[in-house]
Order: sequence, then C-alpha cells, then structure tokens
Amino acid sequence: MLIVSNWKAYVETSARAKELHKAAALLSKKTSHELVLLVPAPYIGLLAGGKSQVALGSQDISVTVGGATTGEVTAGAVAELGAKFALVGHSERRAMGERDDVILEKTKHALAHGLTPILCVGERERDEDARYLKEVRSQLTAVFGELSQKECMQMIVAYEPVWAIGKSASEATTPEDLREMVLYIRKVLGDFVPGKAALKIPVLYGGSTEAANAPSLAHGTEIDGFLVGRASTDVATYSALVQALSRTL
Ligand code: PGA
Repeated sequence: MLIVSNWKAYVETSARAKELHKAAALLSKKTSHELVLLVPAPYIGLLAGGKSQVALGSQDISVTVGGATTGEVTAGAVAELGAKFALVGHSERRAMGERDDVILEKTKHALAHGLTPILCVGERERDEDARYLKEVRSQLTAVFGELSQKECMQMIVAYEPVWAIGKSASEATTPEDLREMVLYIRKVLGDFVPGKAALKIPVLYGGSTEAANAPSLAHGTEIDGFLVGRASTDVATYSALVQALSRTL
C-alpha cells in the first residue's frame, strides 16, 4: 500500500521534521508499504537527498508558473528540491476558495514538472438523496475530463470525505461505505480511461485514519493506501499506524 503522510502545518520546526523523517526512513526498511511524506515546502529542501526510501511531496503548489507572483511556491521549485508528489485540491484549500479550474491548472503544472499529483476529492456531507455522489463525480470530472489518457494514468486519487477529516477513528467512514465509494470512483474514472485501466489508478482513503481503524478500512475495500493527517505527525501514532498495516497486510 501507499501510506502518504500529510503533515499539514502541524510541523513547525526542522528538528521535528527531521525526527518524523527519520522514523519514516526506519519504518520503510521494515515494511513493504511505500511511505511518502507531504511536508511544508521549506522542509522539502531540508529532508531531500540522502539514501532514504521515503519520497517527499508538497501539500500544494502555485497555480502560476513563475514570474511576478509574490509568495507563491511553484511546481518547478518543489520538483527541483526533490519532491516527487504534489497534493492538489485538499478540502482545506478548497475551503479557502480554491475552485476546480484552479485545481486543474495546478494538476497540469505538477504533471509538467514530473510530479505525481494526488487529487483530493470528497463530499462535504452525506445526504439521503445521494447528492454526495454527484459532488465527487463533478470534482473528478473537472480534472480527469481535461487530461489526456496518459496524464490520467499518472494520477492518484485521494477520497477524503470532509466530514471525516481531523476527527477520531470512530468518526471516520466505515469499510462498507468506503468500498461503495471506491467502486463509484473507479466507475467514474472509467469514463476517462478504458475500464481496466481505471483499476490501475491508485485510490487512497483519508480522514481520521489511525492504527485503530486502518486495518479494517484496508480490508476488502479495494483502496490502494491512505492519506493520513494528524496521526502522521507524531512518531508514536505514525509508527503504530504503519506497523498495524504491516501486520495485517
Ligand atoms: P486527518 O487528515 O487524518 O487528520 O483526518 C487527513 C487529511 O486531511 O489529509
């Protein structure tokens, strides 16, 4: 599986960044899972290089490609520092007003610089009329509908229901609901690439994943991994999570 840490802004010192990176490097030697750390942009340069198997990525990239855009961090800049992945469309960025057209632009910049985009999609709430399915379909279509088939195959999707983010394991989605959603996401992806190829686009789950619920969410749900926020920012909870998944998978 792919276990992607999203440190968000929880990590604010280089000492803590190095400690978490070291823990991931040690864990990566003991597990067959692939570990990726999405770190605050300045720490990409701090942690890149060395012999570690742990890949790095950015949590966001600029919609611009350079020039007179004060404060922006471009795909080119993070790729040059050693990032391999770029998160796009996280719900915390969408909540700041980021629209689908901006997320598409960012995805294209990431691809142009050889970064693997991890596109976050997910409904704000569950409703009985299943409008949440339309919401997820429209977020996927806004990006996949504008990419070539080759580009589609370079993407990773992270399903993150907004209502499940930043809570505790008991408030995350259930394996049954997750399985249904992953099937739905793959069906939608089948609109943009041939059906069988859609199965090759990794789909991750994110939202209150911890050691306590990760194994049951991983079983029989057809997900390819996790996008983990808070539990990835403490060495003990992160190690417990990776170890729990290593024991059961
Ligand atoms: P969480 O965050 O694991 O803290 O819920 C996941 C995410 O927002 O990527």
